[in-house]
Amino acid sequence: MSWALIATWQMALKGAAVSKEILESHGSAADAAIEGVSVIEDEPSFHSVGYGGRPDREGHVTLDGGFMDGDTLHFGAVASVEGFRSPVRIAASLARREANNFLCAEGAERYALEHGFEQRDNLTEEALEIYRKEVDQRKKLSAYDGHDTVCFLTKDEKGSVCAAVSTSGLFMKDPGRIGDSPLCGSGYYADSEIGAAAATGLGEEIIKGSLSFAAVAYMEAGMDAQSAAEKALRSLEAKLIAKNGKAEAMSLIVLNKDGSCGVSTNVDFPFVYASDQNDQMLYLARSVDHKTVISPYEKDPA
Ligand code: GLY
Repeated sequence: MSWALIATWQMALKGAAVSKEILESHGSAADAAIEGVSVIEDEPSFHSVGYGGRPDREGHVTLDGGFMDGDTLHFGAVASVEGFRSPVRIAASLARREANNFLCAEGAERYALEHGFEQRDNLTEEALEIYRKEVDQRKKLSAYDGHDTVCFLTKDEKGSVCAAVSTSGLFMKDPGRIGDSPLCGSGYYADSEIGAAAATGLGEEIIKGSLSFAAVAYMEAGMDAQSAAEKALRSLEAKLIAKNGKAEAMSLIVLNKDGSCGVSTNVDFPFVYASDQNDQMLYLARSVDHKTVISPYEKDPA
């Protein structure tokens, strides 16, 4: 396949259309991944990413983002950033530096300000309403409530492979909490000589298995994308169940350098895939007896 993309959750559809257009018109994997994610960061109806993201316990929308260029292995990341439009764009900019590639909180905000990144109050009325309700009801949240990360993996016609991710993290998280998403190797990984992977789900679980790096390493050892995704996630799931009696929600997308994809999940997990040989389509991955079953998504995605 000359180009391909895979992205997490139904919310990725709008960004995938933009990403696909870039790849079809001979654009780079880096631009396709960054632009795809940033479309979702601007969408207020998605409450787990960017504008409209759910706040932390103190009512602040703090965002995490990451980017990796598989040609160079350069990565950039930001964590706990407040008041900026696009964490993924800041992360991609940090990936061009020699060092100081991962910045958090005030340090990341100072960098973003000094480098002219657009500022924005990401707390919308709707997200504030959700927050107030949760506070009023003192509802006990499950660890998985409201933290679906948008992840894009892209391959362009030159053979470059990239990964980009963005999230507001766990709803009602403690101030300063950082999940897997900005952590290279856990939330995302890309190597153009092998492929890429990215994760969504409860960051605290994903970090325990360096899930994205594990999937890419399995591909390097010779597995196809689907086998690598399944091996990485199921090994971690089994280990967590053996050690702790349970494994929280985790989903993993994988893109091989040949453009083929793989997905593994222990929940119901929609994803988008497109390539020069496959129309953009929404699929549903489900976990049946600890095996991932993938089918076209039946429900109306509107
Ligand atoms: N996977 C997103 C987070 O845990 O923050």
